[in-house]
Amino acid sequence: MPADDHMMGIVSNLLPCLVCFSLGPAWNLLMQSSGLPLHSPCKLIEKTAFCSHCQLSSVPGDLPENIDELQLNHNPIKVLHSSGLSRYPALRSLSCTNALLDAVEMNSFYIPHMLEELNLADNNLHAGYQQTGWVLHTLVKLRSLDLSGNGLTEDMVAFLLENMTSLEYLYLSRNVLLRLDESTFQDLHQLKELDLDRNMLFEIDGAFDGLQDLQRLTMAFNRLPCLIQFQLTKLVLLNASHNSIEWFVSNQDLEDTFELETLDLSSNSLLFFPFLPTRSRIRHLLLADNRISFYEHLAENTSPNWTNTVLFSNMDSNASQVSATLWDESLHGEISALELLDLSRNQVSYLPEGFLSKLKSLKRLKLQKNCLESFDLRTVELPVSLQELDISDNSLYLFKGNHSSWNKLRDLIHVNLSFNDLKQIPSRLFQSLPSLKTVDLSYNHIGICSLEEDTKVADDSDCVTWRNLASLRELYLAGCNLGSLPSSAFEGTQLTHLELSENTDILIRNDSLMSLNRTLQYLGLGNTGTSHLDFTPFRHLRSLNMSVNFLFELSESMMSLDLRWLNLMGNELTTIPPHQARILAQRLQTVFLGGNPFNCCNLEWYQLFKDVKSLTIEDQAEMTCLLLNRGKQSVEARPWAVCEDKREPSWWYVVLFLPVVLSLLGVTVIFLMTFRPKLLPRVIKKTWQRPTSY
Ligand SMILES: *[C@@H]1O[C@H](CO)[C@@H](O)[C@H](O)[C@H]1NC(C)=O
Ligand SMILES: *[C@@H]1O[C@H](CO)[C@@H](O)[C@H](O)[C@H]1NC(C)=O
Ligand SMILES: *[C@@H]1O[C@H](CO)[C@@H](O)[C@H](O)[C@H]1NC(C)=O
Ligand SMILES: *[C@@H]1O[C@H](CO)[C@@H](O)[C@H](O)[C@H]1NC(C)=O
Ligand SMILES: *[C@@H]1O[C@H](CO)[C@@H](O)[C@H](O)[C@H]1NC(C)=O
Ligand SMILES: *[C@@H]1O[C@H](CO)[C@@H](O)[C@H](O)[C@H]1NC(C)=O
Ligand SMILES: *[C@@H]1O[C@H](CO)[C@@H](O)[C@H](O)[C@H]1NC(C)=O
Ligand SMILES: *[C@@H]1O[C@H](CO)[C@@H](O)[C@H](O)[C@H]1NC(C)=O
Ligand SMILES: *[C@@H]1O[C@H](CO)[C@@H](O)[C@H](O)[C@H]1NC(C)=O
Repeated sequence: MPADDHMMGIVSNLLPCLVCFSLGPAWNLLMQSSGLPLHSPCKLIEKTAFCSHCQLSSVPGDLPENIDELQLNHNPIKVLHSSGLSRYPALRSLSCTNALLDAVEMNSFYIPHMLEELNLADNNLHAGYQQTGWVLHTLVKLRSLDLSGNGLTEDMVAFLLENMTSLEYLYLSRNVLLRLDESTFQDLHQLKELDLDRNMLFEIDGAFDGLQDLQRLTMAFNRLPCLIQFQLTKLVLLNASHNSIEWFVSNQDLEDTFELETLDLSSNSLLFFPFLPTRSRIRHLLLADNRISFYEHLAENTSPNWTNTVLFSNMDSNASQVSATLWDESLHGEISALELLDLSRNQVSYLPEGFLSKLKSLKRLKLQKNCLESFDLRTVELPVSLQELDISDNSLYLFKGNHSSWNKLRDLIHVNLSFNDLKQIPSRLFQSLPSLKTVDLSYNHIGICSLEEDTKVADDSDCVTWRNLASLRELYLAGCNLGSLPSSAFEGTQLTHLELSENTDILIRNDSLMSLNRTLQYLGLGNTGTSHLDFTPFRHLRSLNMSVNFLFELSESMMSLDLRWLNLMGNELTTIPPHQARILAQRLQTVFLGGNPFNCCNLEWYQLFKDVKSLTIEDQAEMTCLLLNRGKQSVEARPWAVCEDKREPSWWYVVLFLPVVLSLLGVTVIFLMTFRPKLLPRVIKKTWQRPTSY
């Protein structure tokens, strides 16, 4: 296993975060203070002046002097002169984004010292960053600064931020920062939020050491290879998703309790579960789309030649070496406050013993698309607080139940076991869960127990009993190879949503679903070969999937429903009779009709549908119809015009009458041969007795 010594760039003490947000700026803009336009194009609401998209090339000089917010976004202002703002001494918030701005210049005595929020996102400040810096350094009250999307490098940023001790919110996303060190943010002692998303950061060296108050730090979409020696104890949110992080290691020697609540490391290259702080209140741990697995089982029989430690050291000094002993369970850190653990799309093949029981507050466990093969509740201790369990799309063949911990899951609402290889499951697995609302067992080979099977209690059963699950509302059993639905399969439940699609040739008895006649709102019967079900009892049905069912016509019982959503794709419909079309058009909001062999010359129903504004044909682009001699036509091309064309029918008549004409001709010839036999040879002779040349 990868236990060799690693020399890696160290990223120490990270963590400041900034949130991007744009604000209305509050500062007086400058630009020529003379020659003010007579009629300002700006809109004034209370003390805020909205001058965005006004083709202004400078700060308007005719606004009331007491305005406290000015928005100048999307104007062609090349240089913002501080003198232009001197008319507005009360300005607290100024926004000048997307303004082609090269620089902010100070060319008079005015110091816009009241300004608290300044948004200069998406300009070209890299061009005139020095002038801009001199102005920024005078803004002693500035709390929020947005310099996103300005082509800034780390040196420019370090200069711009020098002495900005009042800053609390800083947004630097979409710049070209490569590496950060102690000097970058050294004066920002009050910083609470820092946004570094979408730069090209690959190294952070002590850059956050001085940021003692930092609470939110986002660094998504950079190129960080690891986060080592994490020790920002005040941080509440760290978002480092979409990097190339292989290691996340917190400083485990710290006695302090970390404030961290949300850690987002999704879409990285983590191989190990992150080494979390020993004391923390972390609630949301987002680790989807990594390569995480657990390796404890390997530690037991390590060959003596394997190293069990990783060493991280800074590329240019040995000063901050960090080593971590692998396989050590305590490295998982304090996880007892965790409410959401998202490990979707990793390589987890088992959960270490005792791991889940440490998660005392866990509500949502997401293990979608991993490599789990079994889930044995006799050994796995699920936290009683669990509400959502998603183990879909693994290779589960074993899901053993009947353990006290499962029966104690009084809050479990949502279970997703779809896309696995389950063939056996305890038949009464779900019977002990009083809050269960949604179960997805799609694409397994699990049936539904009949009444007789119900009475037997089996730990390994090929069917599940759903009867009398009073809390259950949504049940997904697509692609389960269901041969037939037993009588009263769902008696005692109040299902609103039942998915049975992709069970080809399922036999649905008229009484199988009857008990749902007062609750069912969605019924999925796509590709089930169902065509004659009597829908009349289902008064509350609003959505019906009848796609791929070889329907040649729509049943009258379907017309009795008050449907809003209907899927009829891939059937054999050639038309929809006008009386049915009128009913459907009145009620439906969404319909799918592609893949039916409609007759182009019988599309009256289509016109009816098109005339109703509230109805959308969702797959109209894929709708085709057949036109005699011309094959498939797109319905959107209005092929019925051809049907009304006069030439077409007359041509048709010729085809139609040709046999008649030919038969008449034949009759005439026979008549002639019978009654005037001499006439015929004469005619032939005349034609053929021409001299032939030899
Ligand atoms: C920052 O403050 C220090 C000390 O007050 C001063 O020497 C320095 O010139 C200031 N830097 C800028 C860019 O204003
Ligand atoms: C982290 O950042 C990514 C990209 O901006 C975003 O999609 C995600 O929602 C963020 N995570 C959290 C927990 O806010
Ligand atoms: C382990 O190390 C020893 C000496 O360092 C060496 O002789 C031996 O071949 C190594 N074993 C393996 C399995 O690499
Ligand atoms: C770092 O440590 C290694 C081995 O421990 C040593 O060979 C190297 O010279 C050290 N580098 C520096 C810059 O001290
Ligand atoms: C269950 O998981 C599958 C695959 O991960 C997903 O497509 C499906 O929507 C989930 N079911 C429910 C009810 O959320
Ligand atoms: C668990 O097993 C016991 C007997 O071993 C049985 O009485 C009980 O019904 C089972 N419970 C479930 C939910 O399968
Ligand atoms: C269900 O009822 C319809 C109409 O009453 C009937 O035509 C059909 O044969 C019945 N199907 C079954 C399986 O009983
Ligand atoms: C619905 O089913 C119940 C029994 O399950 C029955 O008593 C009732 O008549 C049915 N209602 C309709 C409209 O079919
Ligand atoms: C409807 O059924 C078809 C065929 O089984 C399936 O492919 C499709 O996903 C279903 N549509 C919806 C929206 O459930």
